[in-house]
Amino acid sequence: MEDKGMENLEVSVIIRIFARTFETKETKMQEKIIILDFGSQTTQLIARRLRELDTFCEILPYNKFPADDPDVIGVILAGSPYSVYDPEAFKVDLKQFLGRIPVLGICYGAQFISHTLGGRVEPADSREYGRAKLNVADRDCPLFRGFEADSQVWMSHGDTITALPEGFHRIASTENVRFAAYKADEMEVYGVQFHPEVSHSLQGTLLLKNFVVDICGGHQDWSPQNFVETTIAELREQIGRDRVILGLSGGVDSSVAAVLLNRAIGDQLTCIFVDHGLLRKDEFHNVLRDYEGLGLNVIGVDASERFFRDLDGVTEPERKRKIIGRDFVEVFDAEARKITDARWLAQGTIYPDRIESLNITGKVIKSHHNVGGLPEEMHLQLCEPLKWLFKDEVRRVGRQLGMPEHLIGRHPFPGPGLAVRILGAITREKVCILQEADDIFVQGLRQWGLYDQVWQAGAILLSEVRSVGVMGDERTYENPVALRAVTSTDAMTADWARLPYDFLAHVSNEIINRVRGVNRVCYDISSKPPATIEWE
Ligand code: XMP
Repeated sequence: MEDKGMENLEVSVIIRIFARTFETKETKMQEKIIILDFGSQTTQLIARRLRELDTFCEILPYNKFPADDPDVIGVILAGSPYSVYDPEAFKVDLKQFLGRIPVLGICYGAQFISHTLGGRVEPADSREYGRAKLNVADRDCPLFRGFEADSQVWMSHGDTITALPEGFHRIASTENVRFAAYKADEMEVYGVQFHPEVSHSLQGTLLLKNFVVDICGGHQDWSPQNFVETTIAELREQIGRDRVILGLSGGVDSSVAAVLLNRAIGDQLTCIFVDHGLLRKDEFHNVLRDYEGLGLNVIGVDASERFFRDLDGVTEPERKRKIIGRDFVEVFDAEARKITDARWLAQGTIYPDRIESLNITGKVIKSHHNVGGLPEEMHLQLCEPLKWLFKDEVRRVGRQLGMPEHLIGRHPFPGPGLAVRILGAITREKVCILQEADDIFVQGLRQWGLYDQVWQAGAILLSEVRSVGVMGDERTYENPVALRAVTSTDAMTADWARLPYDFLAHVSNEIINRVRGVNRVCYDISSKPPATIEWE
């Protein structure tokens, strides 16, 4: 079970993703690229590209450059929704890094550098938006090493640079943009008005690689193995002989966090796995057995009675979520308090959880229900060893730790479980019906080799709808089940999976023949947006 919410509390603005680590005689150094965030939606994409280049980077707010960090080998000034002339535009003190380490300005970043150093930035005659062909003026420029002629780039800006500051020269243009890219004559300072981070800039990743490797001297040697080694060493140092508790959800994030911690501190870690009764068929026992097989010190708590009692008669989705969230905290809290000498609360928070929780000013814009309040009350410090990683990276780390593939490849599953997949009031009987239908669907996906092709799949019980059917000689009047399977990369958007008709026919037959109370099966063909992945 995936409970991304349990892993969503940290309020830090540093987003450090990848570690290149090497040992010198005395020091351990992590070279890194800093990406300064000016509020553009594509800032995260720059980080994503850098990590594809096996490069450690941190996204920091525009005004939080770590001037005294010796490990910074380069800085990228990212885009912004503002014009440099907007009174509220974000400004950074360039003296902190200009001439000291290589700098790359992207879009607003490029305009800001130019504007601040005495160049001219003006509103473009028409907003530059879309594909353009890049004409590289300086073929020797390392930023464009390996670039093809007329390489396609993606433009998206309202202002444009019309004159460069003194001591800067043009290195590329497009048909409409004279200064599509520039460089300082005497310093490693580059600016591009296009967006190398988006996939429509066909050689954008090459440009970023040229910047990181050739210009900044980066080594591109992040790997799951050195992440594991470095993180274990850091955890040992951070935690010492203290006790740590961790809420397991069955999902890949909390499981990988637990195994990593277990490697670092062994029995000092106690895991708590709460069964709210709304898990998939047999999931509580199967996952508990897996955890024990991994050598984790885990306490399984069956609290289903309490959850069913509190959910009795509740139909409204948000109320269901709130009740489950509150009960979860209380059950977890009661168990955690038994470990009287615990000093740390560990969570499987990953990078996308934090993006949702933070904005550029560092304020929390969304926090999660499940363990909210717990660390403050119990005076526990937070430990989040995966907070720099994306989901696919967590999976790579899990494999590196030797975890079984069925745990690592597990589909996400919502914290409130089947409660948000039963439309209407929840009863134990309905949960049993849905567990059976869901199990047929999910096991079917595995047997047909389709499980790994979808991001997430499950069944939904439309318990407030009844329709007529015929079974043998009998007329039936029962509930339909909807099947939902989606493809996605991050759950922010999703498309319905084009599962083979033969498979859907097989699953439909199996469900109607084997699950009492269900006489009709539908397949959900809505994408997100406008629909969501879950029905409630
Ligand atoms: P939606 O339905 O918003 O789901 O498209 C996006 C992803 O989030 C999961 N989800 C939840 N996870 N608590 C969770 O921990 C929740 O209340 C919750 N609601 C949705 C959903 O399964 C999908 O992966």
